[in-house]
Amino acid sequence: MRTNIPFFNIVAENAPYAEKFAQELQLFMQSGQYILGDAVKDFEKEYATFCGTTHCVGTSNGLDALRLIFEGYKSLGILHQGDEVLVPAHTYIATTLAVIQAGLVPVFVEPEDSSFLMDVAVAQHQLTEKTKACLVVHLYGELVNTKTFQSFAKRNNLLLIEDAAQAHGATASNGQKAGALGDAAAFSFYPTKNIGALGDAGAVTTHDDDLVKAMRAIQNYGSSKKYQNDVLGFNMRLDALQARFLLHKIPEYPSAIQRRQEIAIRYVSEIENPKIILPVHPKNDSHVFHLFVARVEMRDDFIQHLTKNGVGSLIHYPTPPHKQTALKQYNHLSLAVTEHYHETVVSIPLYPSLYDKDVQYIIDVLNRY
Ligand SMILES: Cc1ncc(COP(=O)(O)O)c(C=O)c1O
Repeated sequence: MRTNIPFFNIVAENAPYAEKFAQELQLFMQSGQYILGDAVKDFEKEYATFCGTTHCVGTSNGLDALRLIFEGYKSLGILHQGDEVLVPAHTYIATTLAVIQAGLVPVFVEPEDSSFLMDVAVAQHQLTEKTKACLVVHLYGELVNTKTFQSFAKRNNLLLIEDAAQAHGATASNGQKAGALGDAAAFSFYPTKNIGALGDAGAVTTHDDDLVKAMRAIQNYGSSKKYQNDVLGFNMRLDALQARFLLHKIPEYPSAIQRRQEIAIRYVSEIENPKIILPVHPKNDSHVFHLFVARVEMRDDFIQHLTKNGVGSLIHYPTPPHKQTALKQYNHLSLAVTEHYHETVVSIPLYPSLYDKDVQYIIDVLNRY
């Protein structure tokens, strides 16, 4: 039979939860608490504990989590319309959209040429008196250098905000986890994320009591008391049914990280092909391998080889945010490292439900290219 390894197998990932989720749906219906309520509170408590933060605020999705952080800081008078925010040029567009939609100005920072992450030395040169925040992205599941960015933000009086949508549980060498490294962090629980819901879901984590108070009102129509609206708010609430599902995934997640890292270690040590540039595997928990992203100069040809051999692949991402039609005002920018990454990156399958024989097959196919 012809081998077919999909890029991701979302059904297999959720299969172990089928019974629990069916029970949760029954309990949910009987509870009558369809918006917010105990399940959302329980989830927030568990996820804050998991990240090591004082607070977690559930949100509708990851983009809204980022937007809510910015709106929260604006309502506290800490950020203002037109403030500049350092953002990685190499990221998913949601990072950039959140900044723009909050009325702030993204300043695109090139990645290091040794990793896919924001280069702090480049960021340093892009500071102006309008720079008020640095939004780091732990892209593909890999933490930015925590100490470096913490001291960069402190030295320059910037808010340090994490886009941790892809990096649940990634842990720095000092034991701090994604979500607890800066002033506030945004997570996504989009179904394909390392902790995935059965629909849209997200969260903000922070230690900041004032920010939480502001965000809770803003995410609920600007209201902290029913039918009393103090600020122009949104509806950015976490869905109560998704909260119930996610609560079952948190305790299982450490073993999923372990499995992801185990596969990544095999790829890094057993794929030996000079035509394929592999990501560097840090020998600690700072990478949770949401994605395993290689680089290949003749990418189309490589993808054809994978497809012919029944191995799924995806490109994260084919067009950088500053070259998207939606961001016309930035299309003139020329960002060589980012653009080269976008031309050469290719993600190969890596997820907990992959069998060892699939992992071996993928390694063989890549070595034969
Ligand atoms: C880096 C990054 N930031 C933000 C988001 C937005 O998350 P969501 O799709 O839940 O809105 C995503 C996921 O799509 C992402 O990968």
